[in-house]
Amino acid sequence: MNRLLDKVMLITGGGSGLGRQVAILAAQEGAKVVVTDKEEDRIGPVVQAITDTGGTACGVRADVCQEDEVAAAVELAVETYGRLDVAHANAGVTVPGQGSISLEDVTIDQWNAVNDTNLLGVFLTLKHAVRAMKSSSGGSIVVTSSAASLVAYPGFGAYVAGKAGVNGLVRAAAFEFGRYGIRVNATCPTHGMSVNFGLEPSAEVVGLSYEQAAGNWDPEAAVIPLRLPFPPGLEHNAWPIIFLASDESQYMSGVSFPTCDGGQHARTSIPFPDNWVLSAESEKSIQTKI
Ligand SMILES: NC(=O)c1ccc[n+]([C@@H]2O[C@H](COP(=O)([O-])OP(=O)(O)OC[C@H]3O[C@@H](n4cnc5c(N)ncnc54)[C@H](O)[C@@H]3O)[C@@H](O)[C@H]2O)c1
Repeated sequence: MNRLLDKVMLITGGGSGLGRQVAILAAQEGAKVVVTDKEEDRIGPVVQAITDTGGTACGVRADVCQEDEVAAAVELAVETYGRLDVAHANAGVTVPGQGSISLEDVTIDQWNAVNDTNLLGVFLTLKHAVRAMKSSSGGSIVVTSSAASLVAYPGFGAYVAGKAGVNGLVRAAAFEFGRYGIRVNATCPTHGMSVNFGLEPSAEVVGLSYEQAAGNWDPEAAVIPLRLPFPPGLEHNAWPIIFLASDESQYMSGVSFPTCDGGQHARTSIPFPDNWVLSAESEKSIQTKI
């Protein structure tokens, strides 16, 4: 209940999906939360949900592509709660055409439509968060990257490139700002992510993962190697962010790791059958090599 007690945490893209879920959990863990989003009407309900249950939160509209808006949001956090301890650079958008446009046909406008938010927006959030954190006693910056930063998704070339760039930015920033006690890490979600991601910004906030929204969860039919009796949800991607925000990860920096993955990455290139076991001979040869 107190993993983020009295920490001041700013979240971008906090009006829906993962950012909204993190805002709610962070407040439950004792954080004072500043909810920001490009879509102004998504902010109020999240702030209300937090304050209705005894938490502390305020909100402001901020488009992460606009430096003055990001700077103003950070300023609001400092003015309202005295400092900034955690920034969750989470705002992100999918590619135009949702995977239907080949990389060779992507226009500059389409490329920028993704990466202005997903890469430039992360840079601007990090830049202004660092300036605020330097004047106190350090802090933690957590970025929402994607499994697309680690593997390629066909038709998502601009997104894949931007998210891989995010992981590079995390490493560079962790190296540069470690001297101020500022940690920078990212999570790379795979399953259990927001169904709103592929919907219009004007769509109602559903607050569910693709798997939850699909209903009738059957672990035996799931593509996820880890079999659990419930579908992956936003909270399964949110808790690792709470961990990175908290002092539990005090000596972790420069790391981008998959969340809600269930072992998928270990299997992407080698499709082992379900009943696969290592033969005694192979086991012996592996041990010899080790
Ligand atoms: N849903 C997925 O399939 C998936 C998978 C892996 C990673 N991600 C990443 O997770 C993060 C959160 O997305 P989500 O899945 O919760 O989707 P979502 O659409 O539910 O939430 C994203 C929020 O960001 C806001 N936003 C978009 N552009 C913005 C901008 N320029 N400035 C400020 N706010 C902006 C949106 O209004 C929205 O409220 C993104 O970085 C996304 O790339 C999503």
